[in-house]
Formats: sequence, structure tokens, C-alpha cells
Amino acid sequence: MEPGEFALSDREFNRVKVRVYKEAGISLSEAKRTLVVSRLGKIVRTLRLSSFDDYLDYLERQGTPADAQDFINALTTNLTRFWREDHHFTHLETYVGQLIQRRPRIEGGRPKLRIWSAGCSTGQEPYTIALHLLAAFPELRRWDFRILATDIDTNVVAKAAAGVYPQSELSGLARERVDLFEPAGPGQVRVPMAARELIAFKPLNLMNNPWPMRGPFDAVFCRNVAIYFDKPTQAELFARLGAILVPEGFLYIGHSENLGAGGANFRLVGKTIYQTRAQQKARDAA
Ligand SMILES: C[S@@+](CC[C@H](N)C(=O)[O-])C[C@H]1O[C@@H](n2cnc3c(N)ncnc32)[C@H](O)[C@@H]1O
Repeated sequence: MEPGEFALSDREFNRVKVRVYKEAGISLSEAKRTLVVSRLGKIVRTLRLSSFDDYLDYLERQGTPADAQDFINALTTNLTRFWREDHHFTHLETYVGQLIQRRPRIEGGRPKLRIWSAGCSTGQEPYTIALHLLAAFPELRRWDFRILATDIDTNVVAKAAAGVYPQSELSGLARERVDLFEPAGPGQVRVPMAARELIAFKPLNLMNNPWPMRGPFDAVFCRNVAIYFDKPTQAELFARLGAILVPEGFLYIGHSENLGAGGANFRLVGKTIYQTRAQQKARDAA
């Protein structure tokens, strides 16, 4: 234990686990003990409480919604990067290219394209979608094209909405990708307005049922989010994502994930890429 750190008993760790599972569906493994001590320990000190038990009592008895949110924000894992799992963007480009060919011009209106980045963290995923598609298809600027980007962690959503990143985040990207960003002061880059204006960033807990939006979405990215959930929670989430996609829409998931029991309405079409069936069982049942 570091000097000034609070001890976390098994009972306290269990109380943390129960709460974060109930609130966010997140299953904390034993390996997350150190993370809990360091991240929640900071909050315990700020609140001038003397133990994790006192903190959990405080949350239960007198905590404000902001306190409850701080607890969640402290326990999320937000690792992400631009063009992470690049093959998904190549696939998306082919799919949107086909939609552009197929989707008829609506009389007096613009063709629609809707994509959801569910668990968007600090925004690199939805910005990659926007930058990649705008670069491939400049005509999308004339479409009714919108990206919804949501996350349970309100701190990352705020960071994402700003659209400003350290230049170092672009290291390893090809020149033509780096050139899509604008300079934003020393050592910083900004996502250009044409991409930023496509995206609505919103806080959203994927465990909420129902979700506030109806969809349907042409594609959903829900990558490296469900790994923090147990199997039944994953299955329910993936089934709900299937129901909010258009028939024959695509779901992109993380490299170590699979749909498990939530895959009834999908078929696997590529590495961690799933397509909803033309006739969806959930919708037929409704
Ligand atoms: C590792 S990041 C993945 C970011 C991005 N999708 C990617 O693959 O690079 C996982 C994100 O899931 C979010 N998350 C965890 N539980 C969630 C929930 N119940 N509802 C919404 N977002 C959640 C976390 O806050 C975190 O930002």
C-alpha cells in the first residue's frame, strides 16, 4: 500500500463491485483492485471520509447524482485510439459506398445515413468514422448524415465533444490521415468542423432500458465495451443492438468479443463484423 492510501477490505471491494454492476453492468475482476484503490481513494480523500465503507455509506445515504456519476467515471476504462481496428473502417467504407449507389434521392430531401458509436470514450472512434467517410465520399456532405456518439462516462463525453487532442495521438498514422486534422496550438490538433458537426455526443448508460433514441441505425460500433460485462449482460445488449439496426445493417465489435447468446439476429460476415438478417426476429415479434 502506498503512503496515504486507504486499505480496501474484501467486503468493501465487494460493495464496490455490487454497485458498479448494478449501475453500469460492469463486472470488476480481482485484477481491478489496485485501480479501485487509486481511483476511488482520491474521491474518498476529497470528500474527507476515512474509509471505503464510509464512502459507500455516503453514496447510499446522501450522495448526489453528481457523486454517483463520479463513482462511475472513476471505474470506467477508456482506452481508445484513432483508426483502432482499421479493418472495420475499410468494411464501413465499402458498405457506405454501396448505400450511396442504392439509396435513392428522396423527393425534396436528402438521403439519410445514421451511425452510432456506443461507448465512444474520448471520441477517437466517432471522429475516425466521420473523417474516414468524408474523405472517401465528399458527396456525404450533401447527405442527411449523422453520427450519435454516447458513453456512460460524462468526463470522456465532454473531452470528446471538444475535439482537441495532443499531436502525439496521431503518431503511427499515415500522412494522409494526419493531414485530415487541423493545428490547434502548440502540440495539439483539432478535428475539423466538417467532421465535428456530424456528431452528437451524449452521455448514455447502455444498461438503460429503453434507450432514448429509436434508430434505426445503418451501422453500430460497440467495440471494447461489452468486455467489461458478464455473458448475460452482453447477450441482452447485443440483442438490443440488433433490434436498433436496419435489416442488413452492420455491428462492429471489439477484437476479443463475440455476440454469444445475443447473436440470434446476426450473421458473422468478417472479423468481428456482424450483419443483421433481412427479416429480424425481434421486429417480427413486435
Ligand atoms: C475501452 S473504451 C472503448 C472505446 C472505443 N469504443 C474503442 O473501441 O476504442 C470502453 C468505453 O465503454 C464505456 N462504458 C462502460 N460501461 C458502459 C455502459 N454501461 N454504458 C455506456 N458506456 C459504457 C466506458 O466508459 C469506456 O469509455
